[in-house]
Amino acid sequence: MKIDGTPYRSVWVDQDGWAVRIIDQTKLPWSLDMLRLTTLEEAAHAIRAMQVRGAPLIGAVAAYGLCLAARRDTATEALEGAAATLAQTRPTAVNLRWALERMLTRLRNTVRGERVRVAYDEAGRIAEEDVEQSRAIGRHGAALIEEAAQRTGRRVNVLTHCNAGWLATVDWGTALAPVYTAFERGIDLHVWVDETRPRNQGAALTAWELGRHGVAHTVVSDNAGGHLMQRGQVDLAIVGADRVTRGGDVANKIGTYLKALAAHDNAVPFWVALPSSTLDWSITDGIADIPIEERAASEVTTVTGRAMDGSVATVRVTPKDSPAANPAFDVTPARLVSGLITERGRCAASAEGLHSLFPERA
Ligand code: MRU
Repeated sequence: MKIDGTPYRSVWVDQDGWAVRIIDQTKLPWSLDMLRLTTLEEAAHAIRAMQVRGAPLIGAVAAYGLCLAARRDTATEALEGAAATLAQTRPTAVNLRWALERMLTRLRNTVRGERVRVAYDEAGRIAEEDVEQSRAIGRHGAALIEEAAQRTGRRVNVLTHCNAGWLATVDWGTALAPVYTAFERGIDLHVWVDETRPRNQGAALTAWELGRHGVAHTVVSDNAGGHLMQRGQVDLAIVGADRVTRGGDVANKIGTYLKALAAHDNAVPFWVALPSSTLDWSITDGIADIPIEERAASEVTTVTGRAMDGSVATVRVTPKDSPAANPAFDVTPARLVSGLITERGRCAASAEGLHSLFPERA
């Protein structure tokens, strides 16, 4: 997608043909800084510290992390150890495990002398496939926005949570791909952007990428969604996902479940957009079986922003002695999800729905 007219991706291989370039998302929206990753350790740090984040992008960067590891040592045990290091960086998004397993399978079946070349080839495929899947999600989801425009005869208001835009994928996004596609088709639309405390991915990242691409949007506090829905100011909600079970339960950024409850109470369609790499076919019950990442309390007790003197500052917002807890994701049961938008089309959030799009998994 575009930053002020210039196309960008969220991860790419450097001009030297081997180092991995990323946008440092911890610096947005204050500055657009690119980082150059040259080692497995730097790739693992980038994922753990959320310099890159968003389920599909984590998977792509982990795949490139294995390329960097292979440059140092192509032995199978070394590659498996590197994959274990990368897998431990973040627990909830299943795309990480998916990408690493795919890379390891390909590398185990490759002679050692070819492993570096094949690793870059496979990581490149993972990245390109993610772009194509996001583009397809955009097409399948844009139809929902077009239908809302025809039904209401006015500007369509879409609510989204966290950042599931191009910054969370290699390009286009998941939840925001339908928004960008509808925007490019000339549909009059506006996005309500949940700020998404504690890390503010909505306020910092979604607002930034929508603004840079020219899409109308308004940032709202996380608590505003129910109120907006009661007043008919949300035509549909579209969120991303970090892991979806074979039964259609959805793990996504903390607060997603509350938005789904409010949407259900107000008969607002609540859609979840995801590539198939986010599906975890090994589990059915999301609440029991999806590991929920617990992050540092400091993400809750502080906020970072631009101070009046222009510097970027982190300030404490809670009393010094108050403990804080920071579960980073929650699970929305399938019964609260109107449907799933995948690269193969839309389906019900259920085993039957998913099997209709992915019969090879039935
Ligand atoms: O903790 P994050 O910022 O990696 O969480 C990201 C989200 O929850 C996204 O909404 C999700 O990964 C969907 S991404 C396309």
